[in-house]
Amino acid sequence: MQVIGWALAVGVTLFVAGAQNPQRPDGPALFRERCADCHGADAKGDRGPDVTRLWMNDGADERAMKTIRTGVAGSIMPPSSAPDEEIRAIVAYLRSISIAKTEAISGNATSGEAVFAANCAQCHRINGRGGYLGPDLSRIAGSQSNQVLTRAIRDASASFASGYEPVTLVTRDGRQIRGTRKAEDAFSIQIMDLQGRLRGFEKGDLREVTRDRKSLMPDFGADRLPDSSLDDLLAYLAKFRIPPARRAADTPGDGK
Ligand code: HEC
Ligand code: HEC
Repeated sequence: MQVIGWALAVGVTLFVAGAQNPQRPDGPALFRERCADCHGADAKGDRGPDVTRLWMNDGADERAMKTIRTGVAGSIMPPSSAPDEEIRAIVAYLRSISIAKTEAISGNATSGEAVFAANCAQCHRINGRGGYLGPDLSRIAGSQSNQVLTRAIRDASASFASGYEPVTLVTRDGRQIRGTRKAEDAFSIQIMDLQGRLRGFEKGDLREVTRDRKSLMPDFGADRLPDSSLDDLLAYLAKFRIPPARRAADTPGDGK
């Protein structure tokens, strides 16, 4: 009875996804189907929080499974009555795209710092230094796996960091202004332009507001950034990763 109700609730698409491989549930497909709407296609958060950061501590799998089963009371996070093996497949998928505790680091961080200064610092800050067009990357390696980072670097337009979606505005007199969208309501929009200035516009003064498909970050393919330089860069970013022990000690209330 419960299973029938569940199947009806999650709909035909899932049934089909499951039917393709009835033995082993497909974690990525299940996540896209049931969770991506709230947690984002890349699990880095949307209406619900980033769920790629949960694997820094021991017992995370069990905690995540419990949360998924029971939901979070008083929030929009719903309980799931899906079979254990499906929940386990989703959790395994989330773990695989998160930073593993012992992610191998093969590059050279010192060379990586130079790669960062030459290619990235104009738009990204690390520990207070660098540009403002893109997000601060000081802690990025603490919340994202090398796999996810590699995709963000190699294929910048595959997904946009929230608060950094690219837009193009056209003013009444035909001037084009590109930037990242910081805030918007029915009447106005605030962007950061390519010079790093925050600028606000009344929509009545604009001819067009276009959400671009292309990130303001260029793609760094292997021609621009060979694999070895990418490895160095990842090693540099990993230097700022907070180790799990420090992180636990950082929690408020322990007197540190
Ligand atoms: C309708 C929106 C919605 C859907 C669908 C949803 N979630 Fe959530 N989820 C949330 C919200 C909101 C929270 C934060 C709840 C709170 O703590 O206030 C959350 C919290 C969580 C947490 C705990 C995060 C933490 O920091 O401890 C996990 C794990 C999680 N969700 C996984 C999932 C998975 C896996 C799915 C799909 C099976 C899913 N969620 C479906 C909205 C959703
Ligand atoms: C011309 C400016 C520019 C340059 C140069 C640039 N980026 Fe970006 N980057 C951005 C913008 C804008 C975003 C946010 C939009 C997006 O996600 O594509 C971004 C996003 C990212 C993200 C995703 C961050 C997140 O929170 O998900 C990563 C990782 C990243 N950049 C790394 C790099 C690295 C490493 C380099 C150098 C090899 C680099 N970027 C060079 C502008 C730039």
